[in-house]
Amino acid sequence: MTLSAWWRHAAIYELYVQSFADGDGDGIGDLAGVRARLPYLADLGIDAIWFSPWYPSPRSDAGYDVADYRSIDPAFGTLADADALIAEAHALGIRTIIDVVPNHCSDRHRWFQAALAAGSGSPERERFWFRPGRGPGGDLPPNDWRSIFGGPAWTRTTTPDGTPGEWYLHLFAPEQPDFNWASPQVRQEFEDILRFWFDRGVDGVRIDSAALLTKDPALPESEGPSPYTDRDDVHDIYRAWRTVADKYPDRVLIGEVWLPDAARLARYLRRDELHTVFNFPYLCCPWDAAELRAVIGSTLEFHAAASAPPTWVLSNHDVDRHVSRYGRNDTSFGLDRRDHSQPVDLDLGTRRARAAALLTMALPGAAYLYQGEELGLWEVEDIPDELRQDPIWHRTRGADPGRDGSRVPLPWSGLEPPFGFTTGEPWLPQPKEWRELTVEAQSAEAQPGSMLALYRRALRIRRAEFAAAAMTWLPAPGGVLAFDRGGVACVVNLSPAPVELPAGEILLASGPLSGDPVSGDRASGGLLPPDTSAWVRTVSR
Ligand code: NOJ
Repeated sequence: MTLSAWWRHAAIYELYVQSFADGDGDGIGDLAGVRARLPYLADLGIDAIWFSPWYPSPRSDAGYDVADYRSIDPAFGTLADADALIAEAHALGIRTIIDVVPNHCSDRHRWFQAALAAGSGSPERERFWFRPGRGPGGDLPPNDWRSIFGGPAWTRTTTPDGTPGEWYLHLFAPEQPDFNWASPQVRQEFEDILRFWFDRGVDGVRIDSAALLTKDPALPESEGPSPYTDRDDVHDIYRAWRTVADKYPDRVLIGEVWLPDAARLARYLRRDELHTVFNFPYLCCPWDAAELRAVIGSTLEFHAAASAPPTWVLSNHDVDRHVSRYGRNDTSFGLDRRDHSQPVDLDLGTRRARAAALLTMALPGAAYLYQGEELGLWEVEDIPDELRQDPIWHRTRGADPGRDGSRVPLPWSGLEPPFGFTTGEPWLPQPKEWRELTVEAQSAEAQPGSMLALYRRALRIRRAEFAAAAMTWLPAPGGVLAFDRGGVACVVNLSPAPVELPAGEILLASGPLSGDPVSGDRASGGLLPPDTSAWVRTVSR
């Protein structure tokens, strides 16, 4: 591992395949659509793409229910398309990261089908968690665990003669049976899957639900310490994966680990485990200077202790888009309290999202962008119920609005839906107001201040200025974050009053500066208004 490894400071674009671009008119994004738009991504200035799961899947959970880990969903294309896409991305200097889902598979996966057919006590069932029920007739689930998507975490099988059989465990939807990671076959299989994709040239793996894989074999009731979250034995798996990854040059393992405790999170970053983890405390943090400073400080601290690069992320396909979050009264986020009943001030949210983009891209480490944030898309909160697809919405009977609103297909061009996303009917409807947010509209010369223009410039400056620079906090008034990266100051004003910028050349500002009639990025000096950020070169080169 070298300090210059690409993933230490990359800008990584999360590409949600079914909503990015459709190449064949069926209303679902696909690999042909991605290949056609690779020049857009190269021009945006990202270093790598993380693809949401692209494998064959009945899509009970948008592809996180994988039926075959070594193939491509026919709705997305073929393995040959994936090979071509990986090669074309590389030719443009863009690395590729795939999503591996090891906690569970689809109930259509051949192993689960074989387990159902083989019956209780069979070696086929050993790869999953099958158990008899409790109570008279085994009518009650084996324990009280709840599915993360709502409802019980157990579903009962039916035997070939039609009588009720054993139950199986699924921490997510019933269509997503959990693997039993105590099974050597499961371990072997996933190491092979990693090699399969590394051999095809992918540069990294995002590991889904990375802290949930191992379970207490006694399957105790859920009171007390979690019997399946962040158990010590999960780390053996990542040590083995690291051994696989280290056989290839420059590959990265990225953990999706939702843990509030920094010390526990840091354990995934030990030298022989994962290279990086997502920074969800930063994503969940409210738009508040003191709280952001605390999260940034603790992130830097525990990553420095682990010699691992921090990561920064504002949005992804599981959370409310940050334009909407920052436009609400409560700007914090929690997976268990998505609330679409709060009023949203989109102008305010957009202004803050622009400021947050410059903060995020100036911090040391890797930055993740979720597709559409470069266009300033907001959470679509008014999707008609009958079109909603997310199992969270269905399993909670609408009590949780779910994640569809962050997954609406991108607007590319034109004045009305489907905005160039498809020639057919998009799988989720797009708001007509997005006509002003299309890539085409935001690329127009008349729109130099668009969100897209801001991201393009920020990513270029980030690459040129920040890659190797150390970060130092600068003195700042209350409500203001200020730090230096190699002679460039990043100042973020979260206070209600304008603040003075340090003297120097303004490289980029997220909005107009007060007293600056031109509102140009290159104005020098000036006051930084509330909810605005600026990058100022304070030391001449
Ligand atoms: C995390 C993924 O990001 C989410 O979309 C998915 O539903 C769960 N893991 C289950 O795979």
